Amino acid sequence: MTAEAGLPDTLRDLPGWAPDAVELADLELLLAGVYRPLTGFLGSFDAAMVIAGGRLADGTPWPVPVTLSVPKELTAHERIVLQDPEGVPLAVLKVTEAWQDPTTQGWRLAGPLEALRSPAHGPFHSLRRRPDELDPADAPAATGDRLPSEGGRPPTPPGNRLPSEGGRPPTPPGNRLCVATREPLHRKQLGQIRQVAERLGAQVLVLPLLSGEHDESLVRALLGVRKELPDGTRIVPVPLPWRGDHERDLLLRAHVAAAYGATHLLAEQEAEGTAVPVVVPEPWAYDADVEIWRPVARIEPDHVQAELTPERLGELLDAGEPVPDWFTPPAVAAELARARPPKHSRGITVFFTGLSGSGKSTVARGLADALVERGGRTVTLLDGDVVRRMLSAGLTFSKADRDLNIRRIGFVAAEITRHGGVAICAPIAPYAATRAEVRRMVSAAGDFILVHVSTPLEECERRDRKGLYAKARAGLIPEFTGISDPYEVPDDADLTLDTSAMAPDEAVDRVLDLLVAGGWVRPE
Ligand code: ADX
Repeated sequence: MTAEAGLPDTLRDLPGWAPDAVELADLELLLAGVYRPLTGFLGSFDAAMVIAGGRLADGTPWPVPVTLSVPKELTAHERIVLQDPEGVPLAVLKVTEAWQDPTTQGWRLAGPLEALRSPAHGPFHSLRRRPDELDPADAPAATGDRLPSEGGRPPTPPGNRLPSEGGRPPTPPGNRLCVATREPLHRKQLGQIRQVAERLGAQVLVLPLLSGEHDESLVRALLGVRKELPDGTRIVPVPLPWRGDHERDLLLRAHVAAAYGATHLLAEQEAEGTAVPVVVPEPWAYDADVEIWRPVARIEPDHVQAELTPERLGELLDAGEPVPDWFTPPAVAAELARARPPKHSRGITVFFTGLSGSGKSTVARGLADALVERGGRTVTLLDGDVVRRMLSAGLTFSKADRDLNIRRIGFVAAEITRHGGVAICAPIAPYAATRAEVRRMVSAAGDFILVHVSTPLEECERRDRKGLYAKARAGLIPEFTGISDPYEVPDDADLTLDTSAMAPDEAVDRVLDLLVAGGWVRPE
């Protein structure tokens, strides 16, 4: 875990650590000055105050706990090097406090950061701008001018050098309206933005908020509607994953907007104490009579066309039907379809779980053959025993190794799924938490179906095709699933098959029926 070479000699012996995706996003925003007045990860007191009341210990409003979790071994060091997932050193954390999260008991490190180099990972990296790089043309020549929102903030503590500290974000000549979004902009939002921007006489700054999933789709969808936005609109991706709370998210988006020199933030609701004022646009609708979007107030009530609900939009995409042009520009429709392809060409993982000898391999093999015979789909079979000879060669049947085995299968299945293929997996996968982890990994890339092959232990043991149960009973194989090791029966299976009660062909047909009914496989 020592930080890689290429570092100054004084840093080479420091331990290195690669933070998770959210922490890396936080790191990037801390280093870029976007999280000002924060200059590093929060300590226990600040974090507790933020969680409880949305304020730092000194009373400064701050909406979300910006913390760094590390394994316990790293808490003994004074400085550590933070790296990106490929191991490139990004910053040195000077540890001021190692603390334990009161809820999870996980270890956290707090302290200021010293930048080593700008993070260079992620798609559309060339579009990223720190606030002080936003618009060199109208950036103020002199440093030290203050942001409108800056009054009353405590000064940055000395000694925490940030690369952006000399250059403040440019003070816009007039108003700057920020649209910080995780969703593409459709015709309605585009109209609302134009209306609000015109009313405020504002330049528009669109911040696509990157989450690590479908980011390229979001950015492309926003770039694709640039010509529908006011002249001079800037589009700057910002890593700001969703943290699961609407109000805190809005407050955080307002902080980010303020850092980028915005005077207003467009949002769907008001909130108390935002760093810049929130503007909620008036309701718009599609006027079916004149075929344009405009404020509802200007439409005859019987000409107001019903919204395309997110559910209906999802159905259209799933079926591969066109998204109507009245709803969104073609460039956005194309990105929506790319991010959520029609079911019959969307990647899917069919994950079988069950005891050894339950019939998983037979049904999985039968399913793979049936899909290949039908054509139209690429299929990869990741059978338990086969994986153990290749991908997981050398692993034991300890809990840790079984989990690693299943994670490896999940990783490969998620990649196959991302590329639009069908991955069929058939390991025992005895632990519910690990199966859930695979479901999460795959679902980020496409669809996931869990099939529990529930053939009872007595039947598996009666079959004992490989003679393993007999050996396990004789104590020759330790930790044997069902005998001397647990199998956690799934409560989230999409299909349950007991092969003691049905022929293998029938079991295969059941899975095929499910795939056809769900639209993943076309009916014959
Ligand atoms: S898992 O627990 O990690 O999912 P996996 O499906 O890869 O198991 O491997 C299970 C296969 O390994 C079984 O079908 C059996 O042939 C063989 N095996 C060898 N030792 C064990 C054991 N201790 N428990 C279960 N299966 C074992």
